[in-house]
Amino acid sequence: MPALWDGSNRVRESDWNERVSKVKRLTILISGNGSNLEALIEACGTHRLQAEVGLVISSKAAVFGLERARRHGIPAKVLSWSEHRACGGSRSTYDQQLARCVAASQPDLIVLAGWLRILTRFFLDRFPGKVVNLHPALPGAFPGLHAIERAYTAWREGTIRETGAMVHWVPDEGVDTGPVLRVVRVPFREGETLEGLTERMHAAEHGLLVPAIAAALAGEAGSLGPSAAEARAAH
Ligand code: GRF
Repeated sequence: MPALWDGSNRVRESDWNERVSKVKRLTILISGNGSNLEALIEACGTHRLQAEVGLVISSKAAVFGLERARRHGIPAKVLSWSEHRACGGSRSTYDQQLARCVAASQPDLIVLAGWLRILTRFFLDRFPGKVVNLHPALPGAFPGLHAIERAYTAWREGTIRETGAMVHWVPDEGVDTGPVLRVVRVPFREGETLEGLTERMHAAEHGLLVPAIAAALAGEAGSLGPSAAEARAAH
């Protein structure tokens, strides 16, 4: 069981499924391997989550996450950012197209699970209070890409002793700065390699994601911890 974010408005774990009155529909956005998608599909299948995955959208073609969706009989769609850009499209037109696809799936919650793009207001304004993101760092630390690698380097340089992962709401275009639903802490281990850390981080994320999504579905507001609030103010 991951450590839980000690913020306000928390929903007790035992209350999750009671608070979620009907099966909710998740739309999951991915860009790669999809191991976090798999964790959510499994949790839905075993009823740890009172939810179903209605649609998976990938920003990249031919990634393994699409194959995972297909194996589970879940509709999966590619909306290739590189193709969109090659055809003269912009971030805003991409996000408008993405929003149309997502809206058609009628989601209760949109989960960014390894989605490697910053969503603009052209997407977010259509889904207020419905988007959550998984980020492999602690609140306020290492926003953006390559967070695991950057944390590892910082540890090797002696500036940090732990990293972690979080699931947070995405209310605006801020990068990994929204109200935090759940956090898992991952202390570094003496002598570990980047590969070893990456493996432990992924396992921690898989454990974190299910309770965090349950909390989001139960309507938990999340909280801005001190470091996340600072990062947000600086943005
Ligand atoms: C995860 O570490 C996630 O936090 C990051 O990208 C990775 C995606 O992994 N944004 P997967 O595609 O779910 O296996």
